[in-house]
Amino acid sequence: MSTVLVVGADKGIAHSIVRQLHERGDNVIAACLFDGADLTADGITVEPNVDVTSQESVEALATRLATTGTELDALIHVAGVMWLDELGSIDYDLVRKQIEINTLGPLRTVEALRSLLQPGAKVGIVTSRVGSLGDNTSGGMYSYRISKAAANMAGLNLHHDLAESGISVLMLHPGMVATDLTKDFPGEHTYITPEQAAAGLIKNIDNLTPENSGRFQHSDGTFLQW
Ligand SMILES: NC(=O)c1ccc[n+]([C@@H]2O[C@H](COP(=O)([O-])OP(=O)(O)OC[C@H]3O[C@@H](n4cnc5c(N)ncnc54)[C@H](OP(=O)(O)O)[C@@H]3O)[C@@H](O)[C@H]2O)c1
Repeated sequence: MSTVLVVGADKGIAHSIVRQLHERGDNVIAACLFDGADLTADGITVEPNVDVTSQESVEALATRLATTGTELDALIHVAGVMWLDELGSIDYDLVRKQIEINTLGPLRTVEALRSLLQPGAKVGIVTSRVGSLGDNTSGGMYSYRISKAAANMAGLNLHHDLAESGISVLMLHPGMVATDLTKDFPGEHTYITPEQAAAGLIKNIDNLTPENSGRFQHSDGTFLQW
């Protein structure tokens, strides 16, 4: 049985990851921004009030887990936001806020919790293909693209720095997933369910080894360009 911390688990893709890991018998800890009451009701361990933009909050989580002797086999950072913008109406306060959540959130979380990661542990950071430089053929979405591209860089750096501790790091794209995050996304798209995305992401983490660490992978298993 693995001990897995999932961050940003109140709803959406992370919520499905938590439920699937719990159902297969893993010891899953759901770090939620709010109280995670529905998860607690189903017997899942919840760490409430974890705001990845708050150093104090994330360090308090690390202290609570350390105090209970928690040793993590995997940490999956999923928390994120998507606020759309376009050239001519960019709100720089929102750009900074989005970077605070999407880029610094996973970095802050992994840095604070790294002493709880066992040798051989796995880190998954959900970013987005929208953050791929090579895949950007349309422009737009300035702050989201910037925040996710930088998250990929933070994750790649973590891969290099944590490799000596035997820890593998994978950046993850969930696919186009029907969640609150995408409900107002313009255009016609084919969406998968959070359950489908979660199943693919869990498979990617299961298959993560030091040999394929430091890469960017779609929930369908294909590796993506940066
Ligand atoms: N859905 C897609 O198609 C898609 C595609 C590519 C990448 N992604 C990425 O996948 C991840 C999950 O997205 P999702 O679709 O599952 O969206 P979601 O349903 O909106 O879930 C995102 C979760 O992150 C939480 N969160 C936001 N700010 C946080 C903070 N400061 N600290 C802790 N938690 C925070 C949200 O809480 P509140 O909403 O209550 O504030 C929410 O529970 C995100 O990183 C997103 O960028 C999604």
